[in-house]
Amino acid sequence: MELIFLFPLFISLAVVSGWSDNKVRTFKKDFLFGAASSAYQVEGAWDADGKGESIWDRYFHSNPELVADNSDVDTAADSYHNYERDVEMLRELGVDYYRFSIAWTRILPTGRSHNINEKGVQYYNNLIDELLKYNIQPMVTLYHFDLPQKLQDLGGWTNPLIVGWFEDYARVVFEKFADRVKYWVTVNQPSSCVMAYGEGVIAPGVVFNGVGEYLCIKNMLLAHAAAYRLYEKEYKKKYKGSVGIALELNWSDPINNKTANVEATDRYKQFTLDLYLHPIWSKQGDFPSLVKEVIAKKSREQGFKRSRLPVLSSEEKQMLKGSADFIGINHYTTNLVKPSKAQYIVPSFNDDVGVELSYRKDWMQAKSPWLRSAPYGLYKLCLYINKHYDYPKVFITEHGWSTSQALWDNSRVENLRGYLKALLFAIEDGTEVIGYTAWSLMDNVEWNAGVSERFGLYEVDFDSKEKTRTARLSALVYKRIIEKRIVESDWTPTNLDINISNKEGRVEL
Ligand code: NOJ
Repeated sequence: MELIFLFPLFISLAVVSGWSDNKVRTFKKDFLFGAASSAYQVEGAWDADGKGESIWDRYFHSNPELVADNSDVDTAADSYHNYERDVEMLRELGVDYYRFSIAWTRILPTGRSHNINEKGVQYYNNLIDELLKYNIQPMVTLYHFDLPQKLQDLGGWTNPLIVGWFEDYARVVFEKFADRVKYWVTVNQPSSCVMAYGEGVIAPGVVFNGVGEYLCIKNMLLAHAAAYRLYEKEYKKKYKGSVGIALELNWSDPINNKTANVEATDRYKQFTLDLYLHPIWSKQGDFPSLVKEVIAKKSREQGFKRSRLPVLSSEEKQMLKGSADFIGINHYTTNLVKPSKAQYIVPSFNDDVGVELSYRKDWMQAKSPWLRSAPYGLYKLCLYINKHYDYPKVFITEHGWSTSQALWDNSRVENLRGYLKALLFAIEDGTEVIGYTAWSLMDNVEWNAGVSERFGLYEVDFDSKEKTRTARLSALVYKRIIEKRIVESDWTPTNLDINISNKEGRVEL
């Protein structure tokens, strides 16, 4: 990489990653700290007590070789049987809330709302009540990648009827749990549509490049909006909760300041950030114009009779506009961008975007190949959102780091501290952040990577029958940050003993 071209990047890094002033920045008393997981990744018990089959069950059972490390994804961390220990870990950390997801198939085994599985409901009642006993707020995600297989048999997220199916499911969940749950995330990362229904490299493995992903994105956004409107109309007044959506929002910068690279980065941002933000948070609504133009033009050139990007009707635009109380930001990394020379499949999402990604070699590398540490990216992302969408409320719904199994996870600590410092800068510059959620509470099934990439503050011994959980260094450091409300650069405990935090009862809604 030619250094001369990186000059503008250095300036921005110096501004936010030098952290060169000596000012001590603190998280205010009402700033919330949490930890996250998702149903498929931790629960196990894939067919216990009447649970139905999800697309991930089907995907891995039909293609076991797709689990990179051949791990036991059916059992995972067995949180279905270990939820009390999970809550104990949250108490040790001293967090304010726990973000977990509900497995649609545990509540509605066939996905449809006529047949409720009461044992599944009982599991989530137990978990919620256990959390509330210790004043830890549940933040519930309705959908985190694990669609009922029965609905996939009818086209899954590419079938527009899913908007209604999702609304019906949301109603069942609200009826059962909204009296106790005040934070809701409708869907997690609609950007997963690209891999799920375009490239077909994650469940349900549908390869329909350039078409399937856009149908999925449209329907998932509308399903989100339907659930939001349902809560707004029938539950909000009574229960006073907030409903948002969790978006995968990473940062990108041009590899250097050449016009072509700047333009490519702008295009990349529109396809990965604004595609999801614009319909909900912009004044105009709808998908971003640049995305509409690029796909329409390419579709024409490719001989399609209409754009591969489906249209949002005025009624749909209306339904989407303003349909969130907060943006859930899942932020992990930053990429450097230039226009692509590589030949992507035509048509495809990648061909539509037309960029090639890289990174700075001195950005620390995680265990996951795609993940590097560049804290300034979170700061710049927050400023971008503020500028384009007028200072919306945000929750960091996920941020994390993968390592090997080791307990002394210094790289996770460094990453956590760097990003929390960046977040303090973003808050100082006006970003309205309600809370920060560490991904993840414990090691879990990292989808196709199995358990080979560990994201947990707690290590899980997947070889033990009990799936023993042990605090890592990062768990102790996170606990200390929550207690002190500042990010110290040098605090290290002498051992990894962790006790229940004595700050119980801090958060009252
Ligand atoms: C975001 C996803 O929501 C989560 O399921 C995944 O484990 C993390 N990214 C890390 O890749």
